[in-house]
Amino acid sequence: MHMHQHEVIIVGAGGAGLMAALYASEGGADVAVVSKLYPTRSHTGAAQGGIGAALGNIDEDQPIYHAYDTIKGGDYLTDQNAAKVLAEEAIDSVIELERYGLPFDRTPEMRISQRRFGGHTRNFGEELVHRACHAADRTGHMILQTLYQQCIKKKVNFFDEFQVVDLIVNDGKTAGVVAVDLATGEFHIFHGKAVLFATGGWGRCWSVTSNAHSLTGDGAAIALRRGVPMEDMEFFQFHPTGIYRMGILITEGVRGEGGVLLNDKGERFMEKYAPSVKDLASRDVVSRAIYDEVANGRGINGKTYVHLDIRPATVNHYFEQEGSDKRIDDNYVESKLPDILDFCRTYLGVDPVKEPMPVQPTAHYAMGGIPTNVNAEVVIDENNTVMPGLYAAGETACVSAHGANRLGTNSLVDLVVFGRRGGMKMAEYVKGVDWTPLPDDAGKEVEAEFKRIRNGKGSSKPYELRDAMQKTMNDNVGVYRTDDTMKKAVDELKQLRESYYNDITIDDQGYKFNTDLMEAWELGCMLQLAEVTAQSALLRTESRGAHSRDDFPDRDDDNWMVHTLAYQTGAEKESDYRVTADKPVDLSLWEDEKAQGLPDDKQKFKPKPRVY
Ligand code: FUM
Repeated sequence: MHMHQHEVIIVGAGGAGLMAALYASEGGADVAVVSKLYPTRSHTGAAQGGIGAALGNIDEDQPIYHAYDTIKGGDYLTDQNAAKVLAEEAIDSVIELERYGLPFDRTPEMRISQRRFGGHTRNFGEELVHRACHAADRTGHMILQTLYQQCIKKKVNFFDEFQVVDLIVNDGKTAGVVAVDLATGEFHIFHGKAVLFATGGWGRCWSVTSNAHSLTGDGAAIALRRGVPMEDMEFFQFHPTGIYRMGILITEGVRGEGGVLLNDKGERFMEKYAPSVKDLASRDVVSRAIYDEVANGRGINGKTYVHLDIRPATVNHYFEQEGSDKRIDDNYVESKLPDILDFCRTYLGVDPVKEPMPVQPTAHYAMGGIPTNVNAEVVIDENNTVMPGLYAAGETACVSAHGANRLGTNSLVDLVVFGRRGGMKMAEYVKGVDWTPLPDDAGKEVEAEFKRIRNGKGSSKPYELRDAMQKTMNDNVGVYRTDDTMKKAVDELKQLRESYYNDITIDDQGYKFNTDLMEAWELGCMLQLAEVTAQSALLRTESRGAHSRDDFPDRDDDNWMVHTLAYQTGAEKESDYRVTADKPVDLSLWEDEKAQGLPDDKQKFKPKPRVY
């Protein structure tokens, strides 16, 4: 195997990975970023509508309001210490991105422009606030380009199109990773003192998803196999507005700019489900509302979608009805939502300034994942015991800033805030520790696994198993779940795992860019994460945030204000999962509430009834 040695190894080159790389290298560490994609193709580039920060450029805002919305949006499962860090450090992070050269849209006064987004309010839910800082509808793309340029300037080492397939651990300490060079199919060992996973989510476990083909949960599955539990896996967010059947994201920024959701009768149905914030209710609420409209026969033409309307005439009608002076025209829509218009014109032949867009909920974001503390250190039990040298940030991590449901724009905040913290922490860590030696058999186990897949003589093609997995997840572990549907999913996933290990076959026996082989390996990651999701969801007998059970429709704070942790038991092939529910939720926010100016009735965020 080819050998490399770098103090810090970052797996994944999206926003979290690049921010961590920048800060680790600024802290003096020798850093390598190992990524299966060319960095600027990372999925951060698909984030559209904005990055939340209480800059108050358009109306009054404060980090404390941002933290409150984050906790409420997370249906009170949010760790409050993490929400506080996220909201407070969002401001510096956005200013920092601006200074790095990110071309944010501007207000007439040349301040960073901000738009409204679901669940963003001021004064603890009093009214909607403009908090989403944006660069048209390609904010994530701009963040990615900006951070990549900064990393190049800092001379970070990049290993592009190297796919990490295993984590090397020796005596409980992190020692590096194993990667496949996609151009040659050869295995490489990266010996490191610290490893940070920033590999994104696993939306590809579902059939309708906003996630790119690459979002297969590699980092999370690898960590699970190496003894790290997965936290809160039952919470997977469905974004309400994906392009019908394709799942491609239509940003919430459309509704932030005044767009409305309409059913087959032309009714603005969100008035019924969330009378005060309407179309800008949090995502779980809007996704369920669309689902309910469709289930009650009010999908467009009886189909499983509704309309999202940003036509100026419609939007201005509702602005007028709400007593707002704001009016928009075609040029405004073209300038604020250019990518959305382009997607719809290209993929649907629909021009959103003339016609409404057909949308349906799409699997979008993992709230759960690799458990970390607020410094991006991976923790491996309910007592927050740190695993030496292992870090995670971004969607693959669960610092639990998002609780049971993430607010729009907080994913980009999460990337930069916790990526930065991880980078700083790793730079400090690697200065103080010796190299952990590589075990003699480093890389052998995963090499054998690749041999097994390559030589499989069965009859199941990976794409058939993948389709079946995606279908069962969409049908049974989607917006709504029940005990029966989830048990069905677990049974089907077990059968698929059986076929994956005993009956697989691939077509391409080559070594160069063997996507057939790599996709088969990725399928193994997804099958594990799908099963962990279904098993964690089965255990949680309540409805909270993105986890909505028909058979347990209420939130149950007495029994379920707690995080789940799912551990792999046994070897990967025949593994089962042990899911525990005893990791406490951090409710520590603002011990000094009065000093923070929080009004008496808002001190200590106690769970409140759901009112939208
Ligand atoms: O709707 C959006 O633009 C998505 C943003 C997000 O997921 O944060």
